[in-house]
Amino acid sequence: MGDGMILVKLGGSAITHKEREKSLDAPALKRLARELSTYKGMMIVVHGAGSFGHMKAKKYGLDRGARGPKGALHAAEVQADVRELNLKVIDALRCAGIPALSAPPALFMDQTAGKDVAACLDAFHDMLRGGYVPVTFGDVVLDKKWGASICSGDILMEILSDEFRPDAAVFVTNVDGVFDRDPKLGKASLIRRIHVSTAPKVKGAKSGSDVTGAMAAKLRSALEIARPGTRVIVLNGLKSGRLELALKGKRGKWTEIGD
Ligand code: IPE
Repeated sequence: MGDGMILVKLGGSAITHKEREKSLDAPALKRLARELSTYKGMMIVVHGAGSFGHMKAKKYGLDRGARGPKGALHAAEVQADVRELNLKVIDALRCAGIPALSAPPALFMDQTAGKDVAACLDAFHDMLRGGYVPVTFGDVVLDKKWGASICSGDILMEILSDEFRPDAAVFVTNVDGVFDRDPKLGKASLIRRIHVSTAPKVKGAKSGSDVTGAMAAKLRSALEIARPGTRVIVLNGLKSGRLELALKGKRGKWTEIGD
């Protein structure tokens, strides 16, 4: 991967225990931070909410917005939970020697009816220029129609890659990559390479407590990012060393999307 600019999303499923509310996978986060620290070029990190966001977001129906005073309290509660996770990620990165600065989406994202409409990314430019690593995350943001809504880390990956055109974007998940069918439903094979020009339309339902749509949504985002020429990798962050290997530009067991 050389030392060009990269975007990395630490998925909530790779750094939290998704089935237990607000439960951090501290050893995985520490290891992933160390693997990230081996990369010497410019980098932006995005992380998901995992069990610090999805459970309550689903309980409160935040994927359909947060109206009225009660909705506002729910939105504030989930935002506070996600911010706790962000601090833990920042700490882990800093301890691994990465000068990480927090960039909360609530301060730069503008949404209407759950869709992003504008993002002011000046702070990212300033942080990168200063030699820092901006760290942003799936969050609850203000919404012009719905009061507040969810902004997923995958959407942030799209917005940031649109702005910065990184050399590579890496999605760190809890599975080996993209499979030809849902591995939870039976035998499935890992797709090693997806060509953007010939990729079929992505179908797929929302799964479990994931208010932002699991792998199908991730693949849609990955294809969007790959289209203008960014190399995209979807890999398993629970397997030690895979992220580091990908950052070194080596081959490995994962899905690569490009042309
Ligand atoms: C979701 O972010 C944000 C909230 C639920 C508040 P993501 O969709 O990026 O999180 P993960 O990676 O699936 O956990």
